[in-house]
Amino acid sequence: MTPPERLAYIETFGCQMNERDSEIMAQLLAGRAYRQTSDLKAADVVVVNTCSIRGKAEQKAYSLLGRLRRLKANKPSLVVAVTGCVAQQEGQGLIDRMPHVDLVVGPQHIYRLPELVAEAAAGHRVAVAQSDAFVIPPFLPDLASGSSYKRFVTIMQGCNNFCTYCVVPYTRGREVSRGFGDIIAEVEHLARHGIREITLIGQNVNSYGLDQPREARRTFPELLRAVAEVEELRRVRFTTSNPKDLSDELMACFAELPKLCSHFHLPVQSGANAVLKRMNRRYTIETYLDRVAGLRRARPEVALTTDIIVGFPGETDADFAATMELIETVRYHSAFSFKYSDRPHAKSAAFPDKVAEEVKGERLTVLQARQQEITEERNREYEGTVLEVMVESEAANRDGQWAARASSNHVVNFTGPGPYTPGQLVSVHIDEACAHSLRGRIACLTC
Ligand code: SAH
Ligand code: SF4
Ligand code: F3S
Repeated sequence: MTPPERLAYIETFGCQMNERDSEIMAQLLAGRAYRQTSDLKAADVVVVNTCSIRGKAEQKAYSLLGRLRRLKANKPSLVVAVTGCVAQQEGQGLIDRMPHVDLVVGPQHIYRLPELVAEAAAGHRVAVAQSDAFVIPPFLPDLASGSSYKRFVTIMQGCNNFCTYCVVPYTRGREVSRGFGDIIAEVEHLARHGIREITLIGQNVNSYGLDQPREARRTFPELLRAVAEVEELRRVRFTTSNPKDLSDELMACFAELPKLCSHFHLPVQSGANAVLKRMNRRYTIETYLDRVAGLRRARPEVALTTDIIVGFPGETDADFAATMELIETVRYHSAFSFKYSDRPHAKSAAFPDKVAEEVKGERLTVLQARQQEITEERNREYEGTVLEVMVESEAANRDGQWAARASSNHVVNFTGPGPYTPGQLVSVHIDEACAHSLRGRIACLTC
C-alpha cells in the first residue's frame, strides 16, 4: 500500500551550496512520499536550511523559527528540522533552547534527513553535527522538479582557509572533494536529460582534489576540462574561489575552453594589504592585480565580480580609501559588499579596534554608490554589440521581452519573434544598458 502523501516546506537561506542541498533534501523527502508545498501552514515537515555567514543571515533563520513556534503550538504533529550552517554551529544547543525544534542536521548529514524525520515523527528529537570521516555519497539528481536547462553540481564541501572573519570552516568542516567519477556521472546524467548549463559549486573550488593523495589527485582545471567535454553541455560556470589559489592552469582553461563562461567571481574583500593580512587572505593587492591581468590576457572579455567587506576590525580611513582605489583600478562588473559582522568561532571577533556601526554604514554607502556607477559604465560598454545569450524564460512578458543570460552572467531582456525555449542559445543585439541588466533585440534572422 502506498503511504499517504505528506507535505514538506523547505525554506532556504544563504549560498548556492545551501540551494543545492535543499534540492537534494527535497528529492530525498519525495522518495518518502513528501510533496513540496509553498504553504507553510499546510506542511507536515518544515525544513529551515540556514546560513550563518553574517549576523543578519542568522537572524532571518531565527525569525522563521519564531513563527514556527506558534505554528507548532497549534499543530503538535509538525516536524521542525533546522539544517545548514546554523544547525552545525549550534548543534544540540538549539534543541535544548527551542522546544519546538525536533531535528538539527549539519550540512554533512542531509542524506540522512528522511530517516531522521521518521524518528522525529515518532517523538525522538535529534541533533547530528559534523564528523571527520565525511564522504560525499554518489547521488543522481532528480529531473522531475527544478530547472529544465541549468543546474548546480556540488564538487566539494568545506573550507581549509580560515579567513579570520569567516564561519564557514567551522560550519562546513574541512575540505572534502567529491569523487571525480561521481561528478562526471552526475554531469552526464544531467546533460542527457536536457541540461545545457552547469555551475560547479564549492566554497573554494580551486582547491578541488587537494585533499586527495598526490597519486590519485585530479585538480580543478582537470575537472573543468572533463566537464567541458560532455557533449550536450553548452556552458560551464563555477563558484567560488579564493584568489590565492587561482592557478596558471585555471587561467589556461579560460583561453582554451569556449564552453567556460566569461565570468569570474574573484572575492577581494579589501584593497588594503594590512587588512588582507589580518583577514588571513594570503594574497596581496599586487598579486591579486597580477592574477586579474593574467585572466584578462587569457579571456579579454571576462566579466569580473567580487565580494568586499567594509569595516573589518582596524580598518582605517586610508585602508578604506585603498579599497575605493581598487574598485577604480579593476572596474568590476558588479560587487557584493557587506558590513563586517562578528561571527562565532571566527578569530576576528576577538580583534581590537572594532569599527563603529555608523562608520561601517557610511563606508558601505560610499562604496555601493560608486560601484553602481561603475557597473552602469561597464554595462554601457555592451551597447551596440551582439551577445550570445541563453534563454531563461518560458514565455515573453507583457512587453514582449524574453529573459536570458549572457556568458558574462548579465541578465539580458530581448524582443524577437519567438517562441524560444529555456536553455536555447540565441544572438541578441544589445541596444540599451540598464542599471542591473541589458536590453536588446534578436540578432539572428534564423531564430
Ligand atoms: N568562499 C568564498 C566566500 C563565501 S562567503 C570566498 O572565499 O570567496 C561570501 C562572502 O561573505 C565573503 O566573500 C565575504 O565577503 C562575506 N563575509 C564572510 N564572512 C563575513 C563576515 N563575518 N562579515 C561580513 N561579511 C562576511
Ligand atoms: Fe570563508 Fe575564506 Fe573559506 Fe571563503 S575562503 S569560505 S571566506 S574561510
Ligand atoms: Fe551561509 Fe553556510 Fe553558505 S554560512 S554562505 S550557507 S556555506
